[in-house]
Amino acid sequence: MAYIIDGKAVSAQVKAEVAAETAKLKERGITPGLAVIIVGDDPASRVYVNNKKKACAEVGFASEEYALPAETSQDELLSLVKCLNERSDINGILCQLPLPKGLDDSTVIEAISPIKDVDAFNASNVGKIMIGDYSFLPCTPAGVMELLKSANVDISGKECVVIGRSNIVGKPMAMLLLHSNGTVTVCHSRTKELAEVTRRADILVAAVGRAKFVTADMVKDGAVVIDVGMNRDENGKLCGDVDFENVKDKCSAITPVPGGVGPMTIAMLMKNTLTAAKLQNGIE
Ligand code: GUN
Repeated sequence: MAYIIDGKAVSAQVKAEVAAETAKLKERGITPGLAVIIVGDDPASRVYVNNKKKACAEVGFASEEYALPAETSQDELLSLVKCLNERSDINGILCQLPLPKGLDDSTVIEAISPIKDVDAFNASNVGKIMIGDYSFLPCTPAGVMELLKSANVDISGKECVVIGRSNIVGKPMAMLLLHSNGTVTVCHSRTKELAEVTRRADILVAAVGRAKFVTADMVKDGAVVIDVGMNRDENGKLCGDVDFENVKDKCSAITPVPGGVGPMTIAMLMKNTLTAAKLQNGIE
């Protein structure tokens, strides 16, 4: 039976550290502020946004929610972002993705000031990550790195396989593993003989978005398996991209869903917002 990497515990620790630093900032009259924009009524986005606001309250941040109707125009959304860019009490701006049809994710992301882009999604921040000189790391891959650290997983020289090449997870995940000297392979829907590739992995990260996609035959004995997925199974129960019940007996460590990567994404968002507040106030 594998070691179950406890994302709830690690995220609580990260949030406690953020809360302690926030308390010190508040003594200097600075309260980190996060603006969260949600457009339309996607139920999953609503849950994520509620969790983000709850985390802000836990660590002592000010948060503002902008819930806009699905019919919002691109111009309206861009003027809201512009207004938030100009406010000194707002240190981080996050627009929950995906946006409804008719709105362009990347135009909105690019409109967010790079110093307030706490998701680290805009081109300037992505470019900084590529060259290894960054202020913010994208929250989910950064959370995965914290989980690997917490489980004392040494990445250097290891075969790392990432399934999924999204801008939000797969691509930056590959980059962070590379920065830690992993030997990284990125797989996707066109990858031939996927199981052969994944079976090489000492560290396997699944970010496919398909319930129980990674089965035991795709996993090497003793691998570390990180599940970024958040899906519903045939009974409507929350599950990841990994067939946890069968894979857990084969690997050395694994993240559960829920309670693995999910809570880390939010904890890292808090960390990025704190960093943004410090940078914008000239504090190292
Ligand atoms: N949609 C899914 N994950 C994320 C995330 O980390 N940030 C934002 N803004 N939208 C998302």
